[in-house]
Amino acid sequence: MARKKIALIGAGAIGGTMAHLCALKGLGDVVLYDVIDGLPQGKALDLLQSAPIENFDIEITGSTKYEDIAGADVCIVTAGIVRKPGMSRDDLLGTNAKILRQVAEGIKTYAPNAFVIAITNPLDAMVTLTKRATGFPKNRVVGQSGILDSSRYRTFIAQELKVSVASVSAVVLGGHGDDMVPVRSSCQVSGVPITKLISSQRLDEIEARVRNAGGEIISLLKTASAFYSPASAAIRMTQAYLMDKKEILPCAAYLEGEYGVHGYYFGVPVMIGAGGIEKVIEIELSPQEKKAFEDSLAHVKDLVQAMDRVLGAG
Ligand code: LAC
Repeated sequence: MARKKIALIGAGAIGGTMAHLCALKGLGDVVLYDVIDGLPQGKALDLLQSAPIENFDIEITGSTKYEDIAGADVCIVTAGIVRKPGMSRDDLLGTNAKILRQVAEGIKTYAPNAFVIAITNPLDAMVTLTKRATGFPKNRVVGQSGILDSSRYRTFIAQELKVSVASVSAVVLGGHGDDMVPVRSSCQVSGVPITKLISSQRLDEIEARVRNAGGEIISLLKTASAFYSPASAAIRMTQAYLMDKKEILPCAAYLEGEYGVHGYYFGVPVMIGAGGIEKVIEIELSPQEKKAFEDSLAHVKDLVQAMDRVLGAG
């Protein structure tokens, strides 16, 4: 059986980390693509030289040509500029929309059957653009954000209670912005509701940290944003797709009536299997969470409108 092919569009910190994870997990052959000549080739060569140590046999190539992603089963898009301290994800809109339009063309031409995962910020707008510009069906274009945001929530809860992260289940819905929605009503530690274990005042603080977690890392790194955890999140989605796991994961999915949302990408739990996004899972929200969900949706709608203005202006 031929190995799967995974194209990583953007060979920055997330792209390189994803290539490493693909290799360590033996997920398939990897093509690292970037417009900066030398960057993808250099990272590919370095990774390849770890193969005898880590004992993997997959191919890793670096390229600046879209034709090298030909026939990819999965394309993961991180291309674009990243935030600097003090910037919001939305500040990246104009530049990244133009980059994403070209990336989508490349994917459409050379990997027309791929499952596409967008990571570039502002995520909710960039995944919308990727779907539009590729013309791919909604089950094959998805945004990575909810797994990362939920993982941050689980991390902070586990730290607070000094329990294993494996015992904490939590989900963050909505847009991948400062108004994302940590769903307290479904957060549990081995089945025990979180509200029985942590005071609501402390949960407010933890959830505020979750919403700002990307910014907290940027203010520490200064010239980069988070990359290990976003890379892990996208590779988890890739694994669910390639191995037909039917895993339920929070992702930005195109909604057509679910949660009362029509025609927008929004972070919700979905089932990922060989059919891509096979199902959107609707969970119960408290009245307060519903309100936060609506506020986040309004923000995503504004963002998509702003993108339309930018792209309309060429
Ligand atoms: C973050 C960036 C990747 O949340 O959006 O860290």
